[in-house]
Amino acid sequence: MKQLTLTGSAGKSDILISPGLRQTAATQCARFFSPSRVHIVTDSQVAPLYLDQVAGQFQLPVSTTVLPAGEAHKRLSSVETIYHDMTGAGMTRKDLVIALGGGVVGDVAGFAAATFLRGVPLCQIPTTLLAQVDSSVGGKTGVDLPEGKNLVGAFYQPRLVLIDPDSLSSLPDAVLTDGMAEVVKYGCIKNRGILDMLRMPHYQDHIDELIYECVKIKRDVVEVDEHDTGLRMILNFGHTIGHAVEKLGDYTAYTHGQAVAIGMVAAMKVSQALGAHNDLDDYLSALLEELGLPTTLPYGPEEIFQALLSDKKKMGDTMNFILVRSLGRAEIQKIAVDELHAILQSIA
Ligand code: GLY
Repeated sequence: MKQLTLTGSAGKSDILISPGLRQTAATQCARFFSPSRVHIVTDSQVAPLYLDQVAGQFQLPVSTTVLPAGEAHKRLSSVETIYHDMTGAGMTRKDLVIALGGGVVGDVAGFAAATFLRGVPLCQIPTTLLAQVDSSVGGKTGVDLPEGKNLVGAFYQPRLVLIDPDSLSSLPDAVLTDGMAEVVKYGCIKNRGILDMLRMPHYQDHIDELIYECVKIKRDVVEVDEHDTGLRMILNFGHTIGHAVEKLGDYTAYTHGQAVAIGMVAAMKVSQALGAHNDLDDYLSALLEELGLPTTLPYGPEEIFQALLSDKKKMGDTMNFILVRSLGRAEIQKIAVDELHAILQSIA
């Protein structure tokens, strides 16, 4: 078993990675928590696969919330449903919330755990690659509002994260491919060895190793900047333009991973426009295409810029943009919005 410990402002978050871990979830939880009852939050896709298996391991009362699957349910009404279910079950601040599922379940259940009774211990059991390498680690929780994504939330570290790579075998190929975009991101920003591994035939046989390397980067970055005011922004490589693509596609035309893949190639081009002498955009496109991800901007520069501008409230006249001038090294650069406008015209 591989283990990483993230030391956050409110204490430690232990992250265990091992095939088969989901089947010993209760034993692992007993090492870290002493609850009198457990509340498991999952969704309608994951529940038929794993809910009984996880719930059945506990010799304690277990209650559940099964949310409808999908990003549309990452909203306050889902959090309220969880609060009501937890109140009905008699959960106290000493008990345990388990988030069993992908990124949406992790974010919503994490936010409910962060806020119910002002904080209940949390264990994340992520079941998608995206959740395993990114969203279950580092303590970002929250929900979307009709006005925008992730507008309400809290930093709340799970005391325990149980990553079982065997869960990935139940995923449709498209969902696995989606998570690969985040794996590529980690390679670009911090460890080009990850990209070399992805180029090997049968890289899937080394998925545990890849997950470990990604989570190690996330742990290291979050330990330096838990509250996302500096270094943590490098985890958003490809996400600025990626979010614009997601938004222009009404969050249905492109998945998060697809949009990030497109955004990373565009960000490489922006890096070049700002002086990087390399052909990393070609390198990255080839790798992402091999993995089954799209790489070309599907919208015009003006549309992309306008979608970016709708975040302008947050960014003023300049914005922090993540550049990669050499593989494995990300930089945060302030760019004037007007300059980005001009660069977008030249790269699209
Ligand atoms: N997913 C980016 C972060 O956790 O900061």
